[in-house]
Amino acid sequence: MESAPAPSLDSGVMAFEELIEAWDGEEVVVHRDEPTSSWMLIGIHDTTLGPAMGGTRLSSYPDPSDAVEDVLRLSEAMTWKQAVADLPYGGGKAVIAVPEVPAHASDDRRALLLRYAELVESLHGTYVTAADMNTGEADMDTVWERTSHVLGRSTSNGGSGDPGAATALGVFHGIRATIRRAFGEDSLEGRSVLVQGLGSVGSRLASHLGDAGATLLLADLDAGRATSLADALGAKVVRAEDVIGTECDLFAPCATGKVLSRETIPHVRCRAVAGAANNQLATPEDGDLLRDAGILFAPDFVVNAGGVIHLAGRETLGWDDATLSRRLEAIGDSLLEIFDRAEAEGLSPAAAADRMARERIAAGRVE
Ligand code: NAI
Repeated sequence: MESAPAPSLDSGVMAFEELIEAWDGEEVVVHRDEPTSSWMLIGIHDTTLGPAMGGTRLSSYPDPSDAVEDVLRLSEAMTWKQAVADLPYGGGKAVIAVPEVPAHASDDRRALLLRYAELVESLHGTYVTAADMNTGEADMDTVWERTSHVLGRSTSNGGSGDPGAATALGVFHGIRATIRRAFGEDSLEGRSVLVQGLGSVGSRLASHLGDAGATLLLADLDAGRATSLADALGAKVVRAEDVIGTECDLFAPCATGKVLSRETIPHVRCRAVAGAANNQLATPEDGDLLRDAGILFAPDFVVNAGGVIHLAGRETLGWDDATLSRRLEAIGDSLLEIFDRAEAEGLSPAAAADRMARERIAAGRVE
């Protein structure tokens, strides 16, 4: 008689193992939240320069391994972001993978966040959390009830609030620098900029660009949002599905990641890309594809560091308004340095930024 097959781990769990084995970070915390059948995942990628700091993403995923992939990728990007922004933090990120995102201000959401806060607290400050996709300052207020290792509480509760405005201003400085390098002149007057995603960051960015005289093209999955902002700013609406392929001087992805891939890059019709979305390149090789296509890419983790600059500056480093403004403006200077370096070393800007971040971390390592 044939013996029954040995019990095997299902493919999702195998993927967990493979993903973590292929990752070069320090620690992944995997916690099963029984009451909600959720996974709480914390990726601590690198703590050489300080505690791993990054937001908490609250989302549903087709498979838990997709959530693991997200937390690993995003925590690594945070390492490079903190290093290039010259902040005393390392890279971390958390994902709460829920069957369904609980409603704001609901008892279920509060209970889930309190249990999550206990998990953060159990790490004794190795990981410092903040808001991210589907979480905001009210959620950080809740997290604060059980752990002090959280940034971005509401201002009425002693925190520095939503970092979206600082992120938008930082992206604006990044776009200025990118336009300067791509077109050899400072002015945004008459330059066409396509903003994809008009949420907390994209809407504020669009206002800054409009004030600077740019010709605005605006796109959002929520067509009503795009239309009302376009009306307010005198901009043109582009349908969300037509973004890739629309001609413009600069494309600013401010919605989701992986917008630049082997499939989309041949259809991108702009001279430069600089925006807020994390992990815009589907793979690192896409940085080279952009360079070969003559498209100047401003690495996202450099451009969108305004949020962490705001959180760290306000809540940890005690900066005043002038210092914060200077540090946001410095995003443009960092980009110009990266573009120079890319040219001098025959690299794509993405690879040059990556090298710069790794050097800063190596210099901070105590052997
Ligand atoms: P948000 O959630 O407020 O806004 C996102 C907007 O993008 C929404 O209006 C949504 O309808 C739209 N959208 C989603 N998919 C789209 C698509 N395929 N095409 C067009 N529009 C689409 O997000 P927020 O805070 O403005 O962040 C934008 C991006 O910047 C995200 O990728 C986020 O991870 C990143 N980021 C945000 C920071 C912050 O301080 N808020 C800091 C660093 C990065």
